[in-house]
Amino acid sequence: MPEMRVLTAHIDKPGQEKIETYEQNGGYQAVRKAIPHIAPADLTEMVKQSGLRGRGGAGFSTGMKWGFIPKDPNLPKYLVCNSDESEPGTFKDRLLIEKDPHQLIEGMILTSYAIGAHFAVIYCRGEYFEGLAKLRNALKEAKARGYLGKDLFGSNYSLEMVVHPGAGAYIAGEETALLNSLEGFRATPRLKPPFPAVAGLYSKPTIINNVETLCNVVHIVNQGVEWFQKIGKPKNTGTKIFQVSGQVQKPGCFEFPLGISLREVLDAAGGMLPGRRFKACYPGGSSCALLVERDLDIAMDFETLAARKSALGTASIIVMDDSADMVKVAHRLMQFYQNESCGKCTPCREGTRWVVQMLARILAGGGTHSDLKVIDDVCVSMAANSFCPLAVGAAPPIMSAIQEFRPEFEAYIQRNPKADQHPEMLISYPYLK
Ligand SMILES: Cc1cc2nc3c(=O)[nH]c(=O)nc-3n(C[C@H](O)[C@H](O)[C@H](O)COP(=O)(O)O)c2cc1C
Ligand code: SF4
Repeated sequence: MPEMRVLTAHIDKPGQEKIETYEQNGGYQAVRKAIPHIAPADLTEMVKQSGLRGRGGAGFSTGMKWGFIPKDPNLPKYLVCNSDESEPGTFKDRLLIEKDPHQLIEGMILTSYAIGAHFAVIYCRGEYFEGLAKLRNALKEAKARGYLGKDLFGSNYSLEMVVHPGAGAYIAGEETALLNSLEGFRATPRLKPPFPAVAGLYSKPTIINNVETLCNVVHIVNQGVEWFQKIGKPKNTGTKIFQVSGQVQKPGCFEFPLGISLREVLDAAGGMLPGRRFKACYPGGSSCALLVERDLDIAMDFETLAARKSALGTASIIVMDDSADMVKVAHRLMQFYQNESCGKCTPCREGTRWVVQMLARILAGGGTHSDLKVIDDVCVSMAANSFCPLAVGAAPPIMSAIQEFRPEFEAYIQRNPKADQHPEMLISYPYLK
């Protein structure tokens, strides 16, 4: 199937990041169409009817989320764009920001108008130096044209928008940790409820949406709700930017309707390297269960992947071929989660560290047969008892690697002549001698 480029239609065009080129290619038409002609509540309803689901990972209905904003006109409201993008394998927001920043700004103007926000923030990953520069420049251009500021598009609606560099941590992308970071505190998650739509930035109603989610709003307004509903499949409408990385011929971003098969996305990425065979992939970033060869024809959408006990997540497909060592993959991934755990709660802070240590011992030839059961127990307990979804996401990539590729783990363990002993028997306690 050929790509269906909606959000990425103009990313290859030179100068698209400039406001003149963006406008020549149809930009800033959606805001003219909507403000003030479509009432904010109707715009929210349009987005709800379109079926758009958040592209930041959780897949929550965007229109429904906007609907949670209190109607009180006296309460300040905020829009925050989440472009922290620090999940392994995820790089679609970077592409949208660097190549077409005005599309995001237009989507944010529409969203701010719909929820009644007069101040919007783009929280952008701090290491995205080029993206930050492009966004700052695009904001300047939009302001100079009168698309930001007072009385926009002949209405009495006003909006200011700023860009804020992120704090250099994966957890800063979790929406409540992001809010703490924006307020100048350490990026640790907040207790929910209250949800940000009720008490978010500075305890005021706040909508937090992903870059790709916000860009979609432009096209729903321009081309209509029915057009959007026809793309993809029921409950999974619209296109998705799939990011393919790892052991494929042509890694990159590919936009397809939701529900396309994994095989077709991999074909778009040029397929496997010469002489190599597909072994496994993480289909939705690193925080989900592995798919294997028997899953190649699975539909890449929220429902199908959840039913397979994996997740669409950010649709970031990390591919491994038959040369990959799954024990090393599991160890490397858990090192990431150990590093990125904010340390607020014990099951995550200690659990990630224990699993890294056990996997390191297995790799070093010191593993025991009981290790795999202990790793599984730690993962289950970590996912069940931690404070935020980081730990929930840290468990399935490791548990599924053990489930699907157990013989690889056992082969390492069998290198240990004392593998039958309980691990504690292998630890020497010098002070007991
Ligand atoms: C550890 C962690 C990191 C996250 N990082 C991001 C991120 O970088 N970008 C993002 O949009 N959502 C991220 N999320 C999800 C957000 O909390 C939130 O669900 C999302 O921004 C909502 O936007 P959406 O409704 O448009 O998907 C992360 C969640 C967790 C638990
Ligand atoms: S689960 Fe991990 S990242 Fe989340 S609050 Fe607890 S320690 Fe922090």
